[in-house]
Amino acid sequence: MSLSSKPAAPSKASAVNELGYRTFDLGEFHFERDEYFAHLSWPTGTHVMSVDAFLRALQRDLAWNFFYGIVNFDGVFGTLNHYGTVDIFAGRYNDAYRKAELDHLENIETEAIREVFAAMLDDWTNAGFDPFASPSETGTAFGVKNGSNTEAVTRRRVVAKRMVGLPGDEAIRTDADGYPVNRQFADVDQGEPEIHAEKGYEERVGAFSLAAYLSRSPVTWNPSVVSVCRDSLMCPTTEEYILPIIHGNDRAEWFVVLSDEIIWDIEDRDSGTKRAKVTMKAGDVSAMPADIRHQGYAPKRSMLLVWENASSELPELIAAGKISPLPVEF
Ligand code: PHB
Ligand code: FE
Repeated sequence: MSLSSKPAAPSKASAVNELGYRTFDLGEFHFERDEYFAHLSWPTGTHVMSVDAFLRALQRDLAWNFFYGIVNFDGVFGTLNHYGTVDIFAGRYNDAYRKAELDHLENIETEAIREVFAAMLDDWTNAGFDPFASPSETGTAFGVKNGSNTEAVTRRRVVAKRMVGLPGDEAIRTDADGYPVNRQFADVDQGEPEIHAEKGYEERVGAFSLAAYLSRSPVTWNPSVVSVCRDSLMCPTTEEYILPIIHGNDRAEWFVVLSDEIIWDIEDRDSGTKRAKVTMKAGDVSAMPADIRHQGYAPKRSMLLVWENASSELPELIAAGKISPLPVEF
């Protein structure tokens, strides 16, 4: 049966297919899954993705509240955040689709897309599959409908208000909290710094071992915001296998590889044309401009510090040409 021959069915949101999976509609986009694939269709085309990759991307898009700028699930399908509404698109940032006029885009209230994406992620994720985990640390996404993993897919990323460990913020991760040291970080020193605050400053001075904190992260490609100073967000994360999205940022961002190695594929943000390949080793720093998109590959679990500027004025200033998309000019 060909999906493209099916008419769009806006009221089919709760239909269940013969494999036990619900089908979903969002505007004129239609979503189905089978044992191996997510099938997408829209008035001018169809698309297929391996369902494990689709669920890993869907998980990030939701948990990050549609993130900064563009979240490409792959070279065809994705979302663009307008911070209140979200564009959902197919082929919009793909030269060949644009030239053939097969691209499609719909602007949807954030709340409405969140509801459908959350229901789809929950229904399509089987028991034993955790879209946040590295492939070596989780079960299979494939097969006919088999239970669910709601606890895993409703995880939110850790967001500190000041700095991790200061009063009112997330506690340091420990064995007792259910955060064992990851198998690939067994050699990371678990010692914590001593703090000697002046009297009266005990609530305002803090320190923690970032390496020990990250060594206990149970997830991959999911930045925690560990410190906030005005618009400056320090977002370290542990990476293994492939960043499940191709991120087209609406501002510059900085990467500091703290351990091991990450290979970045860099493409033009709007057309997808290949621009660069950057191999970063421990200690390397790079800055990603606002006119590219990037996807990372981590052969072994790696600690990465992502530094974001959260100012809500940046996308407009860059789009209007008032500030450069380049973070630095040499
Ligand atoms: C990014 O798109 O910049 C990004 C997202 C998640 C990560 C690392 C980098 O874990
Ligand atoms: Fe990014």
